[in-house]
Amino acid sequence: MSSARLATSQFTTSFATRPAVVASAPGRVNLIGEHTDYNGGPVLPAALERRTAVAAAPSDGWRFVSSVDGAVHEVDVDAPLRRDWTDYLVGTVRELRAGGAAPAGALVAVAGTVPIGAGLSSSAALTVAAARALSLLAGRSLSPTELVDVAFHAEHDQVGVRCGRMDQTIAAHGQRSTALLLETASGTLRRVPFGGRLWIVETGVSHKLTGGALNERWRECEEALELIRGWRPGLRHLAQLTPSDLAEVARRLPPPLVPRVRHVVTETARTRAAAASLAAGDLAAAGRLLVEGHASLGVDYRSTIEEADFIVERAVERGAYGARLTGAGWGGAVVVLAPAEREGRILAEVSRDFGDQFGRVPEAWSTRAAAGVRREALPTVAE
Ligand code: GLA
Repeated sequence: MSSARLATSQFTTSFATRPAVVASAPGRVNLIGEHTDYNGGPVLPAALERRTAVAAAPSDGWRFVSSVDGAVHEVDVDAPLRRDWTDYLVGTVRELRAGGAAPAGALVAVAGTVPIGAGLSSSAALTVAAARALSLLAGRSLSPTELVDVAFHAEHDQVGVRCGRMDQTIAAHGQRSTALLLETASGTLRRVPFGGRLWIVETGVSHKLTGGALNERWRECEEALELIRGWRPGLRHLAQLTPSDLAEVARRLPPPLVPRVRHVVTETARTRAAAASLAAGDLAAAGRLLVEGHASLGVDYRSTIEEADFIVERAVERGAYGARLTGAGWGGAVVVLAPAEREGRILAEVSRDFGDQFGRVPEAWSTRAAAGVRREALPTVAE
């Protein structure tokens, strides 16, 4: 069932009335460019076919329900956050309000097919879809760029996750058969045609970003930047450094910060090279860069996990062009780029190997690059 139908169905079940508006936004897979977006570097994500939908209708107060547990929450959007999924909606409402684009209150139902905690950006799918649906209720039609701002500030400033802008940007600007090279320092978007299939293998290890390891890495990167400015006063972002700066970085920074900077710098170069390879149709070259990126996440950024390392190694052994842990890490999913004629066999073999090693079969599914946020026609039948 489509995410729009799922959300509409949840809405009518919970509120015994029909929604006035339904909007949906996709999860994302990041092909490469990990932990570069909060360091002024490039990222190369694609929107998933899996989406999160938000169904809403005007109301006096705020009531939220998600299909995950079906419980209706009566929420005071001015009260302190509750530290659960409703914070993402409250954050979105507050940011919309600041721009005069929020309704006075709403009934909101959320449902969809983006796995939660799998590094596929279920949170940005939610905030971007909610920003679209709720602003429509307020009679406003925000541009994709305005939606990115609302959703980014909702997650970054309200919920307090030290994320960059990658997830919200692809959720709002995604396009079919296209990956997006986003240069986060300048905000430049370049569309890179990619009509192929991407495989997602979920490690089954769930991550939670709020207050966690991502914030710690962000702090390390901030600290490194501050120290490097001691001898490079004009430096705005770590991603502005080049590989030739790394020897000096290694001499002058405290040892634990050196590999973090090295990852950002080498990943920046790999991401631009991967975009060029993809644009040239050289999937083998792009795949090699993915594998190098994964190695860098392991050795330098320390954000991988054993299950992901295993999937990457086996996928490559079995003939994939490349694979890497996608998203923040410390859990989540691996993206696999494989030759079309062999992908089914490769995935079956990797799943079997994983089962032998970890005693469970991983969720594995494929997607093509899909479209970004959209208003959905109201489904006529709500099952
Ligand atoms: C999370 C954040 C993104 C990005 C990635 C790591 O998904 O939300 O902004 O920082 O981690 O690349």
